[in-house]
Amino acid sequence: MTHHIVQLSYVLAAILFIFSLYWMNDPKTARRGVFAGIFAMFLAVVSTWIQPGIIHHDWILVAIVLGFVVGIPLAMVPLTAVPQRTALSHAFGGLAAGLVGAAKYYLWSGEGSEQLTTFRMTAIVAEVILGFLTLTGSLLAAGKLQEIKWIPQRPVTYPLQNVSNILLLLAAVGLGALLVMDPTGPWAKFAFPGIIVLAMIFGVLLIIPIGGADMPTVISILNSYAGLAAVAMGFVLDNKLLIVAGALDGSSGLILSIIMCRAMNRSFTNVLFGAFGQVTAAKADGEERVYKSETIEGAAQVLEQAELVVIIPGYGMAVAQAQNRVRELYDQLVKRGITVKFAIHPVAGRMPGHMNVLLADADIPYNDLVEMDEINSDMPQCDVALVIGANDVVNPAARYDKSTPIYGMPIINADKAKTVFAIKRSKNPGFAGIDNELYFQDNTFMLFGDAKAVVGDLAKQLSGGSGMH
Ligand code: TAP
Repeated sequence: MTHHIVQLSYVLAAILFIFSLYWMNDPKTARRGVFAGIFAMFLAVVSTWIQPGIIHHDWILVAIVLGFVVGIPLAMVPLTAVPQRTALSHAFGGLAAGLVGAAKYYLWSGEGSEQLTTFRMTAIVAEVILGFLTLTGSLLAAGKLQEIKWIPQRPVTYPLQNVSNILLLLAAVGLGALLVMDPTGPWAKFAFPGIIVLAMIFGVLLIIPIGGADMPTVISILNSYAGLAAVAMGFVLDNKLLIVAGALDGSSGLILSIIMCRAMNRSFTNVLFGAFGQVTAAKADGEERVYKSETIEGAAQVLEQAELVVIIPGYGMAVAQAQNRVRELYDQLVKRGITVKFAIHPVAGRMPGHMNVLLADADIPYNDLVEMDEINSDMPQCDVALVIGANDVVNPAARYDKSTPIYGMPIINADKAKTVFAIKRSKNPGFAGIDNELYFQDNTFMLFGDAKAVVGDLAKQLSGGSGMH
């Protein structure tokens, strides 16, 4: 009876996982997707726990308490730290898979080699390699994104890097193949830890040539590896739900990485082996170029006269946590009958959907969020493009300057608007480290300052209050 209940719950959880991913595709249904995922995971844990084979409930309780102790503070990090938090989650996923694989190997080898069938041993080797390389790779990725001082942010490259990495992986796979042939042979006690060590070194070497700019894409690839490790774990434990959930995780991570690569107009191999992020020097043409600035009053007046305002948010809006002030400004403009649209670039910010999450947090109607491809045709009719902490995603150099790291990346055509107001704190470049031609255009005016303060002042000015900060 319990067996049937468990299997039925697994099917239900698998269906919910699929719907969860489907719902997360669209901001309107994303919350439902999150709840479906939480419920599915709850169902999966409970139905696994009630199985009669599980007897050490005390240890499970300890693990759950530990999970809460680590998980709750992790969930509290600011939105800007979510990419590195996600990398840490993958590291834990990889560690769990690796440890389960190692535990099963030592348990079964103690019971005699007949337990370690070719199939099981192959699954264990795959699980351990994928699990431990995901662990160290994800930890390093999280460290790079957190900008930990002793971890180099720049890509670290050396001659024959890819060849030596592949040889290292082949060495781990070779040791694994030997173990599959003879799981308990005399050298097995060295081979098994050897695989773990090689996989951990491989994880580090895989990530060091990748620059900080590509880290979000790489994190999503590591997500994929963690998913594959879970699939292998499913085969080891003979747990069908783990196989399904791991496959969903693995494939969705891969699809997300491909979407991100496309949005940056980069190939997958270029992200993994391109050492992107080395070319960062801004063009020095000797002369200091001049920006035109505008006052809050002046900008507010122009905004008031507009019929169509397109707000282009970027990473700076996330840093400043300016979304609620943006909402206030939006309300002021809409109140005057002005059409306001938000132009969403697929890689604005530092993680997929970064802008959507922030704007949803401020209850900005989803219908006013427009994807880059759709808004670009409206840009010539746009009276004011208000760039809030965005830089690379509106940099026209992406269209023509082959020497820049963002060459080929599709951008939001802010430069086609009649007037551009750009909010940022300084003359510093964006993530790709290059100057932005948009800021020097005749019709562009800078509103220097923190995005939260400047947008707040604009909203206040429009509502009739004092607008100066
Ligand atoms: P960025 O090019 O990074 O520019 C952000 C701008 O915001 C900076 O120029 C900065 O200028 C300004 N800023 C920072 N803090 C601010 C504050 N408190 N108030 C006002 N302005 C502030 O951002 P973007 O245009 O969103 O482009 C995203 C970049 O990340 C792209 O290069 C993209 O390829 C890369 N990337 C993104 C992803 C995903 S998935 N989103 C993945 C991989 C790579 P100041 O310092 O002068 O203020």
